[in-house]
Amino acid sequence: QPLVFSGVQPTGNLHLGNYLGAIRKFVALQENNDCIYCVVDLHAITAQLVHDDLRGQIRSIAAAFIASGIDPKKHIVFNQSAVPQHAELAWIFNCVARIGWMNRMTQFKDKAGKDRENASLGLLAYPSLMAADILVYRATHVPVGDDQKQHLELARDIAQKFNIDFQEKIRATGKGVDMVVGEEPIHGYFPLVEPLIDGPAPRVMSLRDGTKKMSKSDPSDLSRINLMDDADEIARKIRKAKTDPEGLPSEAEGLKGRPEADNLVGIYAALADRSKADVLAEFGGQQFSVFKPALADLAVNVLSPISAEMRRLLGDTSHIDAILRDGGERARARAEKVMGDVFDIVGFLR
Ligand code: TYM
Repeated sequence: QPLVFSGVQPTGNLHLGNYLGAIRKFVALQENNDCIYCVVDLHAITAQLVHDDLRGQIRSIAAAFIASGIDPKKHIVFNQSAVPQHAELAWIFNCVARIGWMNRMTQFKDKAGKDRENASLGLLAYPSLMAADILVYRATHVPVGDDQKQHLELARDIAQKFNIDFQEKIRATGKGVDMVVGEEPIHGYFPLVEPLIDGPAPRVMSLRDGTKKMSKSDPSDLSRINLMDDADEIARKIRKAKTDPEGLPSEAEGLKGRPEADNLVGIYAALADRSKADVLAEFGGQQFSVFKPALADLAVNVLSPISAEMRRLLGDTSHIDAILRDGGERARARAEKVMGDVFDIVGFLR
């Protein structure tokens, strides 16, 4: 039975990368799957401990989920700290994972910078908590942007080591399932998660530099389109977006070596639910002076209703808070079952 899980950090404003790389996929997946979508507030304090308005940020991500079309009644929307089992399983995973695995994470290296000794222990253990987020529900599929790929590989490594190290215990509790790891049949407890990264915009790039990821932390606001930008801002940022002097190619092959053009075509395709090839069949041979206004219109058409609905939802926080409370209760009930099994497997007294 597939189960979808993903999370978004409540830090800074959501941008087009978060929307296309993650949230838009969350919405599409809810049609045919059981889904759990989490505002990962425990992760938010790893890089920066004290936040001005963490509660407001948490509500704002939840509002973005709902405004984008996630149905919190059919699926689960909640904030991570409401379910203590995430932190509990993360502790066990801290004892499964190796320090060397964490030290190799590129995101840790980027975020910790030069002064690694002075990064928080939480920042180092971040991927272990992320694995726990997913596996505390035994989720199988995780929609994310390309930048999270390495973390999901680590979640597989953790699941695999747990399954192998506890193999006999898992068998004894009768809670496991037969699975194949590589070629080898084992009796494991945690599934090896499948990342869902594909799509026309798995990695949305900065509008100012096609070789850099669009990110919340870029000092230039012109580098990103924020979900809450108004129509004029969106149009202005796309107009100012860096491009090369050529027109658009007629085939996707022609985007090679042209990161800025590739990025804008990918954004168009993702917003329109079309392939890049299909977009180029329409715009191939045209200049950016034609393509950019079309892209701006499309972006405004998709994003404006979402930001308007977010503003409406955030006008009365009691509604969002009720959704999160209800989601938290339902998530906790599921996580408690899994943690019960894990206690039996590890051998803690209940
Ligand atoms: P976060 O909060 O940084 O980003 C949320 C989602 O947005 C995607 N994303 C992008 N996709 C395409 N292009 C971009 N420029 C871009 N920037 C961000 C991210 O890949 C992510 O899917 N560690 C995670 C949160 C997390 C999580 C989890 C995710 C915690 N636990 C469990 C999945 C499962 C993060 O920091 O995402």
